Amino acid sequence: MARLAPLIEEQWRTELADWIAGGDRSAYDAAVGVFGRAGMRWAGLPGTAAAQTRWAARLAQIVDGFGAPYSPEFVMSALNRAWSDRHAQKLVEATRAGRLDPAEGTALHAWAWHRDEQDVLLPARLAGIELQNCIRPLIAVARFVAFAAKELHDRPEWRARIAAETAERGSLVSGPLATAFAQEVRRTAPFVPVLPAWALEGIELDGERVPAGGRVVLDVLGTNLDDGSWERAELFDPERFVGIDDYEELAAFVPQGGGATVAGGHRCPGEKLAIVGLAAAVATLSDERVAVLGRGLEVNRRRLPTKPASGGRVRGAGAAADRCPMH
Ligand code: HEM
Repeated sequence: MARLAPLIEEQWRTELADWIAGGDRSAYDAAVGVFGRAGMRWAGLPGTAAAQTRWAARLAQIVDGFGAPYSPEFVMSALNRAWSDRHAQKLVEATRAGRLDPAEGTALHAWAWHRDEQDVLLPARLAGIELQNCIRPLIAVARFVAFAAKELHDRPEWRARIAAETAERGSLVSGPLATAFAQEVRRTAPFVPVLPAWALEGIELDGERVPAGGRVVLDVLGTNLDDGSWERAELFDPERFVGIDDYEELAAFVPQGGGATVAGGHRCPGEKLAIVGLAAAVATLSDERVAVLGRGLEVNRRRLPTKPASGGRVRGAGAAADRCPMH
């Protein structure tokens, strides 16, 4: 967390400057670049910003295509996965051969030198896949950013409050209001609507008997929007998270899995990284020098994974008003 947060701040500032200077990347595309570059540096990977942005786009496409079997996107995601697996394998091999020297504690260092129970280094390909498991999900947070753009567009009063908070704190990272907004986006966005699993042993769940090998599906969105657990559950209201210090205490808040602890339950180990990255995006998109445009914010709920269609169009505030509406 301590190493990633400043990298995320730096990268969001770069995207903000780009929008102010006339750039027209969507919130989603900008976030893919931010999380890709920040995540790759955090993980100890080499490469120019441009090369890291290109790989980040491939990793984002893998997430985009996986839920649509037999579609062109699915084929594309298989090709991008093959390319990425080979690339990550080469990074591991280069580290082992001494051509790369990532700092201790980075993901590249950890996976390149990780030994299994027999004290043997992992096959380079497998180590490369594990390395990607530390960066690709961070890039997937860009989907939440697209939903955040939509919600911010619809709530100018929250944008103003968050902009004031960011100005006062002088940082895009970890503002309490931006974080509350990010949490409400995670609660309501239908990005990961369900999580399926097989029961390893026979269990009883809420009075239902599930035999070993039986199917269990966690209704992520249904739990996050459950009337019995949340007040006015259907309403998007970040206020409900203001002043909540320990979100892990909320049993019905399962956007990235649940359970009491990461080690002992089914909680995503990257949850805090996702929150930091998303809250920084919320602070960036609330800056009064940029505007989120209203077109293309509809969400196709028949697609998985989904997001607002345009990814959230963002423009410099002046340009948004001046420009021809057809562009
Ligand atoms: C984009 C939003 C994300 C969602 C919806 C999400 C969701 C999940 C879920 C549900 C699990 C399974 C937990 C379990 O069954 O035990 C998981 C595991 C995992 N997540 Fe995330 N995650 C996200 C972001 C991240 C981030 C930002 C990282 C790290 C940078 C990350 C790294 C991982 C890893 C490494 C695992 C595997 C843990 C293990 O098998 O021991 N995820 N994630």
